[in-house]
Amino acid sequence: MVGREAEFTTMRRGLSAASQGACTCRVVSGGHGVGKTRLLQETIDHATAQGFVTVRAVAYPTDANVPYSIVADALSPLVRRMDPGGVRTLSLNPKGTAHINADPWAEVWLEGAKLGDTPLAGIQVPLGTREFVFKHPQYGEKRVTITIRANAPTTIAHDFTKDKD
Ligand SMILES: Nc1ncnc2c1ncn2[C@@H]1O[C@H](COP(=O)(O)OP(=O)(O)O)[C@@H](O)[C@H]1O
Ligand SMILES: [Mg+2]
Repeated sequence: MVGREAEFTTMRRGLSAASQGACTCRVVSGGHGVGKTRLLQETIDHATAQGFVTVRAVAYPTDANVPYSIVADALSPLVRRMDPGGVRTLSLNPKGTAHINADPWAEVWLEGAKLGDTPLAGIQVPLGTREFVFKHPQYGEKRVTITIRANAPTTIAHDFTKDKD
């Protein structure tokens, strides 16, 4: 792809925001042959390589009276890949994987709920920038702000013994 650095960067920024749980929308417009489809295909390839599930839908004038035709167009390739009788859930509260540890150990809290005592390996936590609270009866409390992303596990560690505050 030639001469589309700025546009492709904008698309990648949208994916990066999505990996943190944000919803983003991009409108690509222009005359015939300027490269709209190519830019979208490059974005799909980039997203797929990062582990995103991508879907595509086309709005046809002839489908104007067909209820949910765009949704059906987008989802039918995913449905076709499922086993007959299988059930899958589309997540409305997307989660990512985190490994959480503390020295010597800690109770870990997120948004007012206790996640558990460290070590917490491979737990599922909501995507986005979150404040984790580490609590220890002697060392007290430490707040750590971390961004949980969809495409790779996040490791969060806090060492109370080296804490100077
Ligand atoms: N940035 C680019 N670098 C190289 N080739 C491109 C670029 N953008 C488009 N093309 C090529 O130009 C042709 C028309 O692009 P296309 O994306 O189909 O245009 P549109 O969807 O806007 O009508 C395609 O063969 C495509 O691969
Ligand atoms: Mg096109």
